[in-house]
Amino acid sequence: MTSQSHFDLSGEEPTCATEGVWLSCIACGEEFAPFETVRYVCDDCDGLLEVRYADLPTWEDFDGRGVWRYDAALPFETGVSLPEGATPLHDVPRLESSIGVDRLRVKHEGMNPTGSFKDRGMTVGVRVAEQMGVERLACASTGNTSAALSAYGSRAGLETLVLLPQGKVAAGKVAQASLHGARILEVDGNFDTCLDIVGDLAERGDVYLLNSLNPFRLEGQKTIGLEILEQFRDEEESYPDRIVLPVGNAGNTAALYKCLRELVASSALGDADMPKLTGVQAEGAAPMVEAIEDGRAETRRWDSVETSATAIRIGNPVNAPKALPGIRETGGTAVAVTDGEIKAAQRELAREGVGVEPASAASIAGLRSLREEGVVTADEQVVCLTTGHLLKDPEAAVEAGTEPEAVPGTTQGVRDYLELK
Ligand SMILES: Cc1ncc(COP(=O)(O)O)c(C=O)c1O
Ligand SMILES: [Zn+2]
Repeated sequence: MTSQSHFDLSGEEPTCATEGVWLSCIACGEEFAPFETVRYVCDDCDGLLEVRYADLPTWEDFDGRGVWRYDAALPFETGVSLPEGATPLHDVPRLESSIGVDRLRVKHEGMNPTGSFKDRGMTVGVRVAEQMGVERLACASTGNTSAALSAYGSRAGLETLVLLPQGKVAAGKVAQASLHGARILEVDGNFDTCLDIVGDLAERGDVYLLNSLNPFRLEGQKTIGLEILEQFRDEEESYPDRIVLPVGNAGNTAALYKCLRELVASSALGDADMPKLTGVQAEGAAPMVEAIEDGRAETRRWDSVETSATAIRIGNPVNAPKALPGIRETGGTAVAVTDGEIKAAQRELAREGVGVEPASAASIAGLRSLREEGVVTADEQVVCLTTGHLLKDPEAAVEAGTEPEAVPGTTQGVRDYLELK
């Protein structure tokens, strides 16, 4: 039996399930009770866990707005909510024609309460933490996870601890983590080192881990896919052919694939194909692209990573075993882009009124590159995911934008400067 077969959702409800919910190891298929013991990986083989349900919903089962609209696809009916989700699906007509695809829309996750998609995972993850009765939450972060955890943890009245790579986190994100009340530990190392440390703390029971290794966080992030498909279908009368997204730890890629598998299993997709999941990484931090190109089932850890898109400066994507099959089985691909291409895409998006941080613009840069190569074809209907807001990284925005011009403090002085007649 190959590990791939454990992605099959058709199994019987095991006796360990609680109200139709259980955990299953994607590597060996072992099943576990969901809320009795804190665990992030399989007891038997250290494989990644995913949340399973006895009943999978279809479109008619969804009601309301935001993440909790999809409670029928989640382990709880509600949780600590700010509220999150219900983000816009923008038209970007100039980008659509300059890239050259039939339809291009941008799902702007920067419009969540703390300015990134992480809020979708945190509302569910913190709900589970409450269920488990834990006292201290923690995460390693390139910035956005720490902002979201700080806000949701504080809201829930829980102590929060965030580990950040020293000097490598955008200013807006540190400001958020700080003001929302987390204790911030600046680690002498990169994100992967931070995750190693917080993983050790979690294993010892010192903290409850809310990185995307936590399978419940990915349940919340699954709602990005549900929302994209509903919005696109309502406005375009079809599902998109492709979803392009930036990839760091590959949590969203894994979550979107799970969303699609569940929709196929519940027959909600009808005879439509799953949108092709297409991951984009920065050239200086591209282990997923390497694994796709080399046809490998796992990524090789990159010890040295560099990119100005600090949110995706990750060399050891923990969700690769969930995400790589998602890219392959949907017929998608993965591509690397340069920091220059990312900056140009950030500028182009901003000129359409959509303000995103550098990592988010990678999706547009990747789509452009794949279109130029002919991998993406002119007849495709595409959704690009933009994961974080422009104001997260004000320095990068200023660098990509226009220079302020000094003028005299009089109307005539300004008119003269502008050479108005
Ligand atoms: C803005 C932004 N984009 C993309 C990512 C990467 O997401 P994932 O870990 O789901 O691949 C992150 C988080 O690390 C992020 O903050
Ligand atoms: Zn296992």
